Amino acid sequence: MARVLIQDQQRTITDVEEIRQFLEPFGIWYEHWPTDERLPENPTDEQILEEFAPEIETLKQRGGFVTADVINVNPDTPNLDAMLAKFDKEHTHAEDEVRFTVSGRGLFHIHPDDGPVFAVEVESGDLINVPRGTRHWFNLCQERHIRCIRLFEDPAGWTPEYVADGVHTRYEPLCFGPNYIGTEKSVDPIIEVD
Ligand SMILES: [Fe+2]
Repeated sequence: MARVLIQDQQRTITDVEEIRQFLEPFGIWYEHWPTDERLPENPTDEQILEEFAPEIETLKQRGGFVTADVINVNPDTPNLDAMLAKFDKEHTHAEDEVRFTVSGRGLFHIHPDDGPVFAVEVESGDLINVPRGTRHWFNLCQERHIRCIRLFEDPAGWTPEYVADGVHTRYEPLCFGPNYIGTEKSVDPIIEVD
């Protein structure tokens, strides 16, 4: 399940419905689709797209998306660091960034116009849509693996437009980790750096 951390408020949200309600005013869709028992071990891209075809069709109609594909990023991905470096700086897109995570984890930081920066950690079963024009950046978690369904209006137009003086350098790109429990004793792994 996803987790949200609002660092400036020392607040963590882990409940699916609370996450959905927190993200809604920012125009961000969040849903959790259980993936257990829907996919075989080591599914192909085609198997993933076929299994989730009904959900993909619903999203296409809801957001005007035209195509869907599967991206698979792991430590063996050629030029992984160069690929990640494109998206780990504050940026916007001219179209929505829709991701349904099939396996692995990732961390979206969102920088709203009115409100503090917050982080959304996504993992298997999490659907997120970052609306066009929303300032954000993305990091992989420690295991450097994520496999996602992506939806596009126009894949050719999906390029980052970087924000001048982006605030991404002030936030550590660290995920909460599977053992993060959010108690006073845990150390916030995302630390603002002066
Ligand atoms: Fe992006």
